[in-house]
Amino acid sequence: MEGLLGKLVEQNELDQEEIVYFLQHLTPELKVRLFDLAAQTRKLHYNENVFMRGLIEFSNFCKQDCLYCGLRRSNAAAERYRLTEKEILECAEEGYRLGYRSFVLQSGEDFHFTEARMVRLVTSMKIRFPEAAITLSIGERSEAFYRALFDAGTDRYLLRHEAASRSLYQSLHPGMSYDNRVNCLRTLKKIGYQVGAGFMVGLPGQTHEHLAEDLLFLKELHPEMIGIGPFIPHSATPLKDAQGGTVEDTLVMIAMARLLIPDALMPATTAMGTLDHTGREKALAAGSNVVMPILSPLSVRRKYALYENKICTGDEASQCRSCMEMRIAAAGYKIDLTRGDHCSFNRTP
Ligand code: 5AD
Repeated sequence: MEGLLGKLVEQNELDQEEIVYFLQHLTPELKVRLFDLAAQTRKLHYNENVFMRGLIEFSNFCKQDCLYCGLRRSNAAAERYRLTEKEILECAEEGYRLGYRSFVLQSGEDFHFTEARMVRLVTSMKIRFPEAAITLSIGERSEAFYRALFDAGTDRYLLRHEAASRSLYQSLHPGMSYDNRVNCLRTLKKIGYQVGAGFMVGLPGQTHEHLAEDLLFLKELHPEMIGIGPFIPHSATPLKDAQGGTVEDTLVMIAMARLLIPDALMPATTAMGTLDHTGREKALAAGSNVVMPILSPLSVRRKYALYENKICTGDEASQCRSCMEMRIAAAGYKIDLTRGDHCSFNRTP
């Protein structure tokens, strides 16, 4: 185990068998060291900075039917909503006033938001907030769509690969294609986006072998951003009785991803904060360096339920930003409200 930890830290590399062996033989003591080493590695590229992104969840309509997600189209109980362009811009305006210079526009796969509508939205965002980075997280689209949105000024794109194992991917995504998912990610990279991939921890049927595949997929793709969070079962989905992921297992994946891909920007996810009040702080201490407070209007927050009991959806939500910032600062990090580009990107507005 010492040899494997050394290789991970010094060479940022492990192969499939080594990762599986490492996961099977991790002790509580080794985990503590793993998290510390990951936190130190993060400092190499980003110091103690924690980058803030304002998240705007602008539609929860979705044409896909992912077994784990509360927004799946078969969930008739989901109350659907769409924000208007005006409402989206108002959310961003509020975020801008608070100091945010990085916005993430996320939705289900909602084809109401056509290429023309999205280009208009991004163009308006860029006119109003020229120095802000715009990230889209709206699922699988065509290469032409991705190009048009990039040309309109979109800087980044988040599209978690969800599961690098073809069989696991297929068991969770009826009607979707693993190859198309991977192709979308490669296309986004080719176009020039800063790209985010990632996966959930604790999916039913997920083994150490699968997790090793996820880590090696990320290592090979080398995305600029990596989102890893625990799977949290939603009662209106086929996976309602599944166990779900733990904070501890997710921390191990975050730390390993940090050591395998040292320069990635990695969010401490809302899902971590939902499972454990201090889950996001724990993620930061295990190598994460991004936080994405929700800027969506209070009236719709509860409806954007990928999973249940999501934090920051209640009356306290308007305090989100100051609450998060105080907690991050208290934990010894430096809040960074700039665009927060990946260290190898220098695209000026
Ligand atoms: N629990 C945790 N994460 C989820 N996601 C979707 N459903 C759930 C769930 N039940 C994640 C997916 C998706 C991201 C936006 O949220 O990985 O890519």
